[in-house]
Amino acid sequence: MNLKNRRAFLGVAAGTGIGAVLASAPLGAAESAGKIKIVAVACSPRKGKTTTQGLRFVLDAAAKVAPDRIETVLIELAGMSIPLEPAFGQPVPEGIRDDFVAVAEQLVDPALGALIVGSPVHYANMSTLCKIFIDRLGMFRKGFRLSGKVAGALAVGGARNGGQELVLRCIHDALVCQEMLIVGDGQPTGHFGATLWNAGDDDISTDEFGVKTAVNLGRHAAETALRLTK
Ligand SMILES: Cc1cc2nc3c(=O)[nH]c(=O)nc-3n(C[C@H](O)[C@H](O)[C@H](O)COP(=O)(O)O)c2cc1C
Repeated sequence: MNLKNRRAFLGVAAGTGIGAVLASAPLGAAESAGKIKIVAVACSPRKGKTTTQGLRFVLDAAAKVAPDRIETVLIELAGMSIPLEPAFGQPVPEGIRDDFVAVAEQLVDPALGALIVGSPVHYANMSTLCKIFIDRLGMFRKGFRLSGKVAGALAVGGARNGGQELVLRCIHDALVCQEMLIVGDGQPTGHFGATLWNAGDDDISTDEFGVKTAVNLGRHAAETALRLTK
């Protein structure tokens, strides 16, 4: 899909009736034999805080896998206006801006190799913003536009074991519904994804173990996306 058609898709998607455009969209792994894009979405309502910090570790590690081939994009949802209505077929309420269109523009790019979703733990679950993001991703499911793309998740909690794995699991399950290919943190930590601990000072760089899981997630996601690139 060229840029013009992509914009047309997004224009239609911003309103109603996106089915026909979605159905004609390309499927599968990143198409480009050149650069691939690793997109991380920070779903904390707090801009630049620990979820974003953690995703920076993920993206830096991803870029190091092949600096000449991998482009990284960090999207912070904090401060964005993302109405839920289009997720259930309703128009965006009058006077409300829909910033999801710009987010979707990154995800519809055929060069997308991997999507990493990061959320704080909020009462043992993903943040409200993360759930809205996941629900709005429903537009990609019509036609399975994200099918075959790599996906991973990161969670930050105020406790070492405050529900990070539950949040990863919820994000993974939602992305499985999109036919995405889930990866966890790769070797040697090798579990479910990036699990970080904010000990109260809003600085996760001191969480040595958590940072390792973030780095391993980034590397593993990038290596997998490259392997799958046509
Ligand atoms: C409403 C709310 C609920 C929270 N619930 C949990 C929780 O269940 N478990 C936990 O470990 N931390 C919990 N926390 C702490 C946050 O996960 C932690 O501060 C995290 O670093 C916030 O991410 P951010 O810096 O990207 O905003 C909660 C924080 C808030 C504001």
